[in-house]
Amino acid sequence: MTDRYAVIGDPVAHSLSPRIHAQFARQTGQALSYDAVEVEPDVLPVALQALHEQGYRGLNATLPHKVAVMALCEAVSERAQRAGAVNTLIRTDSSWRGDNTDGEGFISDLHRLDYGVSGRRVLVLGAGGAVRGILEPLLAAAPAELVVSGRSPWKPEALAEQFRPLGTIRPSTHLALKGDRFDLIINATSAGHGGEAPRLPGQLLADGGDCYDLSYGKAFAPFRAWAESQGAARIADGLGMLVGQAAAAFELWRGVRPDTAPVIAALRQG
Ligand SMILES: NC(=O)c1ccc[n+]([C@@H]2O[C@H](COP(=O)([O-])OP(=O)(O)OC[C@H]3O[C@@H](n4cnc5c(N)ncnc54)[C@H](OP(=O)(O)O)[C@@H]3O)[C@@H](O)[C@H]2O)c1
Repeated sequence: MTDRYAVIGDPVAHSLSPRIHAQFARQTGQALSYDAVEVEPDVLPVALQALHEQGYRGLNATLPHKVAVMALCEAVSERAQRAGAVNTLIRTDSSWRGDNTDGEGFISDLHRLDYGVSGRRVLVLGAGGAVRGILEPLLAAAPAELVVSGRSPWKPEALAEQFRPLGTIRPSTHLALKGDRFDLIINATSAGHGGEAPRLPGQLLADGGDCYDLSYGKAFAPFRAWAESQGAARIADGLGMLVGQAAAAFELWRGVRPDTAPVIAALRQG
């Protein structure tokens, strides 16, 4: 029987994961199926059990389940605990093991794009769930400085405290960044979904500086416009991160790492 995998979410019809994993399966010659399963939050525990009974070997969790599935796994990896969320479930004999591949997908996309982190001044905009997932690999990549900035100081301060054992993060508000310069600015806010970019002081980007937005599609447009107005040397969206986190999940399930570049190119073609 073909090994079965699925993404669970609510809604889930828009998810690109079935397309991505179908391409990975073709590319690596693996026989598997990958479904999109709509699961409402109040039936999540029952649904996880049912999918286990139906023989699914792995799941991806997307909104709004990434936090809630943590408590339903029999074990959760250290990086998923740090991120406070699970996006990948691996079947065990009687339940699921939780992991989080978002940070790995993010950093692998920076490598693919040849965006350096080591020795550079890096600014992360936003302090929500996605930021919790990318801070560990960012710190491991040894930036000269890592600043996390929010609309208010509380969430950046809490993140700096939480990640202190892994390295130094300077918390800030967007307004307090005035006069600072960064070599890499990463937008990890959800502002683009509301058609806007975060409100920032001018001249934050150093000459030759790069910009990266975790958002993709229409939500990428406002930050791209801001980055262009600041003279960014390079500007990238988060489609590569999406495919990168999927590739890391695929490797956890199948033991083989697919090549993300052709899949990203195919998704861009529509
Ligand atoms: N490419 C990928 O694979 C991938 C993976 C995960 C997430 N993402 C994207 O990353 C983004 C963040 O996701 P998330 O899960 O972290 O969301 P989240 O937990 O809801 O956090 C959203 C963050 O954005 C900030 N924000 C919202 N509207 C803003 C505005 N108008 N101006 C400035 N800041 C604003 C919030 O600030 P406050 O705390 O002040 O409200 C918060 O820090 C989303 O666009 C999501 O699509 C992409």
